[in-house]
Amino acid sequence: MPKIIKVKQLDLYYNQFQALKSVNMDVDNNNIIGLIGPSGCGKSTLLRTLNRMNDLIEGVKIKGEILLDGVNIYSSQMEIYELRKRVGMVFQRPNPFPLSIFENVSFGLKVERFTDKKKTAEIVEKSLQAAWLWDDLKDKLNESAIKLPLYQQQLLCIARLLAVEPEVILMDEPCSALDPIATMKVEELMLELKKEYHIVIVTHNMQQAARISDLCGYMLLGEMIEFGKTSDIFTNPRDKRTQDYITGRYG
Ligand SMILES: Nc1ncnc2c1ncn2[C@@H]1O[C@H](COP(=O)(O)OP(=O)(O)OP(=O)(O)O)[C@@H](O)[C@H]1O
Ligand SMILES: [Mg+2]
Repeated sequence: MPKIIKVKQLDLYYNQFQALKSVNMDVDNNNIIGLIGPSGCGKSTLLRTLNRMNDLIEGVKIKGEILLDGVNIYSSQMEIYELRKRVGMVFQRPNPFPLSIFENVSFGLKVERFTDKKKTAEIVEKSLQAAWLWDDLKDKLNESAIKLPLYQQQLLCIARLLAVEPEVILMDEPCSALDPIATMKVEELMLELKKEYHIVIVTHNMQQAARISDLCGYMLLGEMIEFGKTSDIFTNPRDKRTQDYITGRYG
């Protein structure tokens, strides 16, 4: 059975302010989904609902449903730790822990009280391989992660996610702190990762959305104005508002 998230008629309020308005979206088929739209339109808010990161914010109210393999992630059937493991998040600024490279990647295993040392080392290697860091870092696994260059820190955060075998990877402007060459590297990695994971990426960079996403959603003032194949959104949008945005006529 394919692993899938279904967002249905999702409303989100920050106290009185409605930040998401009846949003529908499916995450499936190993697509990379790009979320675009002007600042403040609700991209990060939508992304955070997918693994309940908004729960940490006071005054948040949600209506509608988000189903992960048919189970409402906001129901008591879904354990939040399990959810965050299955639906992992990469942030704008890389956020490695002030620990060694090895301890960063094995962190999630430790949380799970996984104690097999040999297996842990194998998983660390495999995860660093998958995030294209193994060759560069294999001889300094005990060095501090926060001393790495930014782009390696970001890749390390991805490796840390991969170690706990997520199904969906959420990325909120993962390249905004990176230079163009590092950005390209992360994009290439995403294209590789999509073979095994479903990915949702928020980006301000329209070229990036066009380059790497299969499906794209254009948001405006909390609404999903248009959601469809990236090629259609960029070359043949159905909605005038999407067209105005992608041709730079917005605002
Ligand atoms: N913690 C919060 N409390 C109250 N309002 C918030 C909070 N976080 C976001 N908002 C509001 O919700 C709306 C959507 O914000 P969000 O951060 O999701 O937008 P965004 O599309 O990610 O913007 P950007 O491109 O600037 O990152 C904005 O009007 C914002 O001011
Ligand atoms: Mg944002």
